[in-house]
Amino acid sequence: MCGIVGYIGDQQAYPIVISGLKRLEYRGYDSAGLCLNNGHLRVFKSMGKVSDLENFIGDQDVQATAGMGHTRWATHGEPSDRNAHPHASADGDLVLIHNGIIENYAALKELLIGKGYTFIGETDTEVLVNFIHYVKEINQYKLEEAIRTALREVVGAFAIVVMSRTESNKMVVAKMGSPLVIGLGSDEYFIASDATPFLNYTKKAIYLEDGEMAVVHRRKGVRVSTIASSKTVEAPIHQLKMDLESIERGGYAHFMLKEIYEQPKAIQDTFRGRLLPDEGVIRMEGLDQIKDQLLKADRILIIACGTSWHSGLVGEYLLEDLARIPVEVEYASEFRYRNPIIRATDVVIAVSQSGETADTLAAVKLAKAAGATIFGICNVVGSSIARETHAGAYTHAGPEIGVASTKAFTAQVTVLTLMALYLGRANGNLSEERYRALCLELAEIPGKIATMLETDGQTIAIAKKIKEYSNALYLGRGYSFPVALEGALKLKEISYIHAEGYPAAEMKHGPIALIDDNMPVIVIAPKNGHYDKIVSNVQEVHARKGYIIAIINTDDTEIRKVAKHVIDILPSSECFSPLLTTIPLQLLSYHVAVLRGCNVDQPRNLAKSVTVE
Ligand code: AGP
Repeated sequence: MCGIVGYIGDQQAYPIVISGLKRLEYRGYDSAGLCLNNGHLRVFKSMGKVSDLENFIGDQDVQATAGMGHTRWATHGEPSDRNAHPHASADGDLVLIHNGIIENYAALKELLIGKGYTFIGETDTEVLVNFIHYVKEINQYKLEEAIRTALREVVGAFAIVVMSRTESNKMVVAKMGSPLVIGLGSDEYFIASDATPFLNYTKKAIYLEDGEMAVVHRRKGVRVSTIASSKTVEAPIHQLKMDLESIERGGYAHFMLKEIYEQPKAIQDTFRGRLLPDEGVIRMEGLDQIKDQLLKADRILIIACGTSWHSGLVGEYLLEDLARIPVEVEYASEFRYRNPIIRATDVVIAVSQSGETADTLAAVKLAKAAGATIFGICNVVGSSIARETHAGAYTHAGPEIGVASTKAFTAQVTVLTLMALYLGRANGNLSEERYRALCLELAEIPGKIATMLETDGQTIAIAKKIKEYSNALYLGRGYSFPVALEGALKLKEISYIHAEGYPAAEMKHGPIALIDDNMPVIVIAPKNGHYDKIVSNVQEVHARKGYIIAIINTDDTEIRKVAKHVIDILPSSECFSPLLTTIPLQLLSYHVAVLRGCNVDQPRNLAKSVTVE
């Protein structure tokens, strides 16, 4: 998720663009850049935050009444000056900024190289601007038609702004899968990922729809058309009512809630280019690079902290179940100091949203020094842990602002699921038939999550009932055990209610002594795996007058009989159930925390990334 800003009118563009980029830094902040057009296209870009770009520009000449800027969240190509946007065509005639992922950029790059194009960076965006240039030159098109024709060949998500040295009185924008809004001032126009950069200048806006594009002309105004046709489209003009903060949160009350609701897209983006269900194939370059080590490994070590450790635990169940590879999951903080046995045949998977967690980074360095092969699952491209690994697969969840990790967790589980299927097929433990069936079912998960998010009413009602309790117990078996741990962590870290996750069968070895009606017992019990066993565990709790809240399938009648409250989840194969059962637990913890008046996005004593011991 990146931030894009554009301006064309009578004011100086630079102050509007640079302040607009600062408003969008919550969308991504590993590098930034801008282009000013006063008949000459001048590009400035640098690693780091927008303030670093500002310092880099210093007192250079920034006179121009048209300009655009970009703050980056890297998906292709490490964060660096040369990978920062804007990107220019080889001859400097076109400059483009982009938010999204071009899936077929490799094929386009190969075509362009064959036509004599050369590239400076590794980004998909640089390919896109040169592809538009190629189409423009070979057909002698004007800018708008060149963009329209080129985008018909592009596969992926994009929100782009293009400026041209030869057509300097206009900007051309296009949208597919990433947001783009046009602010309508009086003889001046604004372009942005959301309205925050121009809300102080105008409250009139056009929200482009997928497949639409527009020419924003200094004097002629805005003309909306589509990628499919140059025919003008009458786009509705909205009168904005939201305030700045609520726009940054996408209209949600908190970043955490926004990120919970972003999970279908985060998982879809993590699938993108990797899960090809129609072909029944999973493609992961990072795994290809260490395939031999993985297939020869005596064991896989998964090292992480907190929520990432919980996704690692789901990974253990997945990799042993589907790929039959022995797995051990380690708390990084323990692993780094307990003088562990590490073999050169070990493959270590480091899981980290931030890619900066000190304990995980130290544990990775220890394992690497011992000769193990390191595979990273990070959400921040170019982060310290990502740079320490031999190979990896990024979660494309976009920036996660809320301290409580939600979409990063399900995106991590998504990558681990893809890995388990890929390896299970590669080492023959999964038949072609079962592999294809699982790939097809996995592709349906984002849609199921979206459906489940619509039933948030159940969790709000339950949150009102349990918000005053001081303790809670989360129980699960099999794949639901790591989910029980994660649900408990969510509740305790944002509502400050003490919560504990436990393997359901372990109840009789102690925790059952805690059971009374003063402690909600949240049981995760989808009808798969050892469902009959969890029914027995629930009966044990019920027999002792436990306060049962059940996360169960809609056709469950057994547990429904004894539960005080129920949250319905959609069915799935057991191996995919964590992606579904986690959702209501995230929502439940969120609503309890809000009802308790807690600071949901910045809970007390916590930091988003623990970069110190
Ligand atoms: C989870 O909600 C917490 N924010 C915390 O446990 C977090 O998962 C942990 O600090 C690990 O962070 P990382 O994924 O960035 O390494």
